[in-house]
Amino acid sequence: MTSVLDSITEPLSVHLKSGTTALHESLDQRIMALAPFSSRERFVCFLRMQLRLHLVTSPLYQSAELQKRLPGLGERNRVDAILADCADFAVTEEQLAEDRSAAAAVWVEEGDAALGWLYTHEGSTLGAAFLLKHARDQLGLSETFGARHLAGHTEGRGLHWRRFKDELDAIELTAEQREQALAGARQAFAFVRASVEALMAAERAADAV
Ligand code: HEM
Repeated sequence: MTSVLDSITEPLSVHLKSGTTALHESLDQRIMALAPFSSRERFVCFLRMQLRLHLVTSPLYQSAELQKRLPGLGERNRVDAILADCADFAVTEEQLAEDRSAAAAVWVEEGDAALGWLYTHEGSTLGAAFLLKHARDQLGLSETFGARHLAGHTEGRGLHWRRFKDELDAIELTAEQREQALAGARQAFAFVRASVEALMAAERAADAV
């Protein structure tokens, strides 16, 4: 049984994971149910959904304040990779503008909630291994065409993720700040879910007409 003391002393990454597991499970199932790798058109919707998350978090990866708290942060930003993927698929300027404006509608401050947003985004690189395999097998994409943003880090996904978690867990937070971080992680999942519905589910509905 988890005691009150455990819930305060457990590492932040564990706290964030347990507070978002249900959201992750439902999101993962929803994305796969929308068959993102069944056609190039569907994949573009998936790509734009991912792009929106990158556009929201990119300023956080570049923030000097957050880099002080998470020293390896600056090198983790993958927004260039996803923009290159979008260019591979000739995502139009109009679509990019739509995605920028969806991202701009969410303003994440550099405080504790941002730690949660970054947790959610960095964690998504783990599931990306499966997504890359599907993208490769079903659409012939690769780390150099169309699926660059799903590529693992050269040091290995697992190690790269553990380094991030170690940095996150080394930050001292009050119970209230931990809840802010969890709220941020949950907001990030909610934002991604909304983007899935706006882009991927809409494409699916259009298919059916
Ligand atoms: C169909 C899509 C997805 C699949 C199949 C998937 C799958 C996975 C898997 C298998 C892991 C665990 C890997 C491990 O423990 O070694 C994982 C971790 C994670 N994923 Fe996903 N994922 C998907 C989408 C996403 C998305 C869109 C996000 C958020 C934007 C996300 C956020 C996370 C996070 C935060 C973790 C780390 C959990 C932890 O703290 O250990 N995932 N994912």
